[in-house]
Amino acid sequence: MPPGAVITEGRTRILVPETRSRGGPGRIERGSVFFNEQMAFNRDVSIMLLRALGRPDMTVADAMTATGSRAVRIANEVPSVEVTANDRDPGAVPYIEANIELNGLGNCRASNMDMHCLFSDSSYDYVDLDPFGSPSLFIQSAIRGCRHGGVLAVTATDTAPLDGAQAAKCRRRYQCEPVRGHMCHEGGLRILLCNIAREMGKFNRGMRPILAFYSDHYYRAYVRVEEGTAACDRMLSRLGYMKYDRETLARETSERYDAEHPLGPFWLGPLFDKELISRMSPEGMAEEKRCIKELALWKDEIDSVPFLYDVSELSRLTKVSPPNLEEFVAMLNETGHASKTHFSPTSFVTDLPLKEIIERYVEAGRR
Ligand SMILES: C[S@@+](CC[C@H](N)C(=O)[O-])C[C@H]1O[C@@H](n2cnc3c(N)ncnc32)[C@H](O)[C@@H]1O
Repeated sequence: MPPGAVITEGRTRILVPETRSRGGPGRIERGSVFFNEQMAFNRDVSIMLLRALGRPDMTVADAMTATGSRAVRIANEVPSVEVTANDRDPGAVPYIEANIELNGLGNCRASNMDMHCLFSDSSYDYVDLDPFGSPSLFIQSAIRGCRHGGVLAVTATDTAPLDGAQAAKCRRRYQCEPVRGHMCHEGGLRILLCNIAREMGKFNRGMRPILAFYSDHYYRAYVRVEEGTAACDRMLSRLGYMKYDRETLARETSERYDAEHPLGPFWLGPLFDKELISRMSPEGMAEEKRCIKELALWKDEIDSVPFLYDVSELSRLTKVSPPNLEEFVAMLNETGHASKTHFSPTSFVTDLPLKEIIERYVEAGRR
């Protein structure tokens, strides 16, 4: 057995190296096989989602598995799947094999290939991509490895380019103009989804997000792969541009790029399959309380009206103190649709026009 300590995550025992990361991407321990305790929630979501999909006999490829943590959790906690736990680092293989043995798994096998090679000659119902930093160089191969009707799951920890803190890098890596300000994380997620969509288009395939979110220091997107030109064209019609005026808070999306709408392109369609989310159960997850909270937020969030507003930008504009967000959202729901958003505890989404939002904000301040 390779050196390390055995921890329990969910219902699974995992051998992890002694030197391991406990925080964001800046804390990666180089030179050893990677494991980050903070990603337990990320792995929980994979388990909940795969269980909710309820498809018997699914084949799963965890393309960048490191210790095999996600792969063995899936094999152990989701009934009837067949899992390939792959990493190109030969040092990872003893950990993957030890973790398969530790949990007595007959439905998980270790693989030591470059993911580009793995997916050049085999395909799966669920493909998981969890690289260091940006997934942009891996998405095309991962799509090749996804079967008809399959699910592609992608983690991106390169938040600075995606949220516009490193705009030049975003342009180079994603060929997108990011948005700054309070909506930067929503913008980052929608850029990642746009990137996945444009790669799908090259294969004449479409995609539909079933769960896409921002959390801690990363973005995560689960998309359903759809076959054919009609699905592909429908997907591409949901990409678009936007304008944002920081002074007036005016924001507007457009199908076409023009000088008025210079930001993007972004995925402008929905982020969640609400019906699927309502079937996701937090029971037995490593971070059960957090799962309960996030599932409720995703289920109630209006996800098809980009982009969010933040109370602090409205307060700056109106010189009114921020109201209680729950009460303000309830007030907006009297005349339109509004919800809180998982992107920020101080932000909300609504389909009401800006003029009405401002009027109601001032009214809320007087109460
Ligand atoms: C962030 S770690 C994965 C963490 C893991 N999914 C978990 O939940 O603990 C990224 C892994 O990708 C692997 N990797 C990088 N490039 C790869 C490639 N081209 N093919 C396969 N694995 C690769 C690295 O060796 C590393 O173990």
